[in-house]
Amino acid sequence: MAVQQVRGVIAPGKDQPVEVRTVLVPDPGPGEAVVKVQACGVCHTDLHYKQGGISDDYPFLLGHEAAGVVESVGEGVTDVAPGDFVVLNWRAVCGQCRACLRGRPWYCFDTHNAQQRMTLEDGTELSPALGIGAFAEKTLVASGQCTKVDPAVAPEVAGLLGCGVMAGIGAAINTGNVGRGDSVAVIGCGGVGDAAVMGSRLAGAAKIIAVDIDQRKLDTAVKLGATHTVNSRETDPVEAIRELTGGFGADVVIEAVGRPETYKQAFYARDLAGTVVLVGVPTPEMRLDLPLLDVFGRGGSLKSSWYGDCLPSRDFPMLVDLHLQGRLDLGAFVTETIALDEVEQAFDRMHQGDVLRSVVVF
Ligand code: APR
Ligand code: ZN
Ligand code: ZN
Repeated sequence: MAVQQVRGVIAPGKDQPVEVRTVLVPDPGPGEAVVKVQACGVCHTDLHYKQGGISDDYPFLLGHEAAGVVESVGEGVTDVAPGDFVVLNWRAVCGQCRACLRGRPWYCFDTHNAQQRMTLEDGTELSPALGIGAFAEKTLVASGQCTKVDPAVAPEVAGLLGCGVMAGIGAAINTGNVGRGDSVAVIGCGGVGDAAVMGSRLAGAAKIIAVDIDQRKLDTAVKLGATHTVNSRETDPVEAIRELTGGFGADVVIEAVGRPETYKQAFYARDLAGTVVLVGVPTPEMRLDLPLLDVFGRGGSLKSSWYGDCLPSRDFPMLVDLHLQGRLDLGAFVTETIALDEVEQAFDRMHQGDVLRSVVVF
């Protein structure tokens, strides 16, 4: 059993439709694990890979928000064992870089992936999305990309912690340090923003203001814990947020769109000495123009949130446990479950804003 054949979703080239192809998965080498994937969510980043927005290293093996069971591990792997139920993460911390050594492993500057490559039948090497590639029956990862969680959780729910949901919850609880009684505004209520709403609620925020240009998104945000909504297509969000916070602005404003204009809104919608968290991902050409005096004069902190500044080994099991206790409705993010050959249609639905998450279930 040196190499196994499985079915996987490939992005063959720029803007070409995805295809289900046979993928060869090598046995795990030192520090690696093969995971039998049980569920994998469809994320915007998968679409960006397909469209060529991330790199030109086609073909890609898509999928990265996944949960499954460890099938086999390579030499020297002690953190997980065959049979473990795990959530995959795309930042396996190294334990040795300057961030890790200073006790800040969530910033790890040298995260790693599997050394060996999965291939097509003709030997073409695949580039796994975010070093995971989990729209496949099995995938090869670094063992550090596997985090054990309580197997009582449904795989389609657990897998979502591997990316967007963790980014949003972490933007609130890790990066934003939202605390009891805080006022929070979340600009952009897609999957990431909604998770930030949920994280803010979990952290005890007193006021959670959801901002979006799409009324459907605001309705969902209310179901997940937003106490107020602002439709920024109709209303100036900075004024509206100030009005809802005694004229001052919110303690924490989370930007979950990734655009200069929404960042500016976040900047001016926070209270003096407040915090702005940028979790939306901008594109290379975007620029920001702000009076430096305002940056100084308004004080506080302007932060970016990488993957929710999460530490998978700390955060994934905790969030799964809270979910199982009924204190965090992670199931609300699963709009539909689909089969492996339905990813292309799921991209269309995502594009139209119809779903929070489609999740491939094996
Ligand atoms: N003002 C307010 N909301 C906006 C604006 C705007 N100008 N433009 C877009 N939005 C809203 C959309 O209506 C949508 O609800 O932002 C939301 C974006 O959500 P999704 O497209 O579902 O994206 P999501 O998966 O939540 O990711 C958001 O975080 O991880 C990054 O790359 C990701 O940059 C993206 C961001
Ligand atoms: Zn490190
Ligand atoms: Zn993702």
